[in-house]
Amino acid sequence: MDNRDAKPPILVIGGTGTVGSRLVQHLSSRCYPVIAASRSRSQTDGHDHGIVFDWHDHSTWSNPFRAAAGPLRAVYIVASPVVDSAPIMMEFIDFARDKGVRRFVLQSSSATESGGPAVGKVHAYLRELGQRGEVDWAVLRPTWFQQNFGEQPFYIKSIKDESRLYSATSDAKIPWVSADDIAAVAAKCLTSPDPPNTEYLVLGPELLSYSDIADILTKVLGRKIVHVDLSRRDLEKRHQSFGMPEESFKMMGALQTSIKFGSENRTNDAILTLTGAAPKMFAEYAESAKAIWEPGDPRKHIDVYA
Ligand SMILES: NC(=O)c1ccc[n+]([C@@H]2O[C@H](COP(=O)([O-])OP(=O)(O)OC[C@H]3O[C@@H](n4cnc5c(N)ncnc54)[C@H](OP(=O)(O)O)[C@@H]3O)[C@@H](O)[C@H]2O)c1
Repeated sequence: MDNRDAKPPILVIGGTGTVGSRLVQHLSSRCYPVIAASRSRSQTDGHDHGIVFDWHDHSTWSNPFRAAAGPLRAVYIVASPVVDSAPIMMEFIDFARDKGVRRFVLQSSSATESGGPAVGKVHAYLRELGQRGEVDWAVLRPTWFQQNFGEQPFYIKSIKDESRLYSATSDAKIPWVSADDIAAVAAKCLTSPDPPNTEYLVLGPELLSYSDIADILTKVLGRKIVHVDLSRRDLEKRHQSFGMPEESFKMMGALQTSIKFGSENRTNDAILTLTGAAPKMFAEYAESAKAIWEPGDPRKHIDVYA
């Protein structure tokens, strides 16, 4: 597919992150012009159109428009990680609309309804603007990422150094989704001729508990990986020991508790329907990422039970 004439470019905020980097790659490989935005220019230097953008530094907000030398075709939004990110994100949406952007695709989460906290407010805002015919929009609500196990220090360290996986979800099931599939859905929503103007729950193909994940990792790595089911408080303490701010580790405790009571126990065919490709299984990801979990130098065990 050659989309080199498909200008103007698409802006991917969070373009160096788990989903954003895959989305930039997905769009680039199909020759869509793309601008990857994040605070750290050094991480985007590998991409021709990496620019500095910081949600919390207004002086950087014009950078993508300068790089595009005009309006943008669409904007993919990964939230600012601060807890009350909604006001700043809505302000940027208005800023981009003033500069001619019509289509916005927001990455939210399966746990956040329209009108819910933080990104949920941005979801409601886009929907409201859409109902007034002022924007084209989509909100992606992915479940938990398969890539968490290979990209988040919390999981990498315990799998690598302790052959353990910690959660507070008991034996509850989750339809783990591949970030590759989220990126493919995002690309569809950003480039489809007809505007989506809806939200999508983006769920993976199989319902797996943390113990099921541990069993798959056991097979792939050839050593026993054990799921340790913690209390909510002990899980929060573990996240805290990794430097997670209080608001965030409390939110993680709440999310894991809701999973424990079945909030993620469902799947759907959104990925297949939207992209035409079957969603990826966790074992496939685990096989491709297994070098990450090879034991290295033994590091000090973080004792959260002290
Ligand atoms: N992980 C999951 O299982 C899961 C599940 C459902 C939904 N989600 C949602 O997905 C989102 C995170 O997506 P992700 O995991 O793909 O991203 P990520 O890997 O956490 O990366 C975050 C991206 O945002 C950039 N960034 C951070 N602070 C920024 C700032 N102040 N201004 C501009 N850019 C900034 C980062 O680059 P720099 O640091 O260089 O700026 C990076 O490119 C969150 O909203 C989360 O709630 C996650």
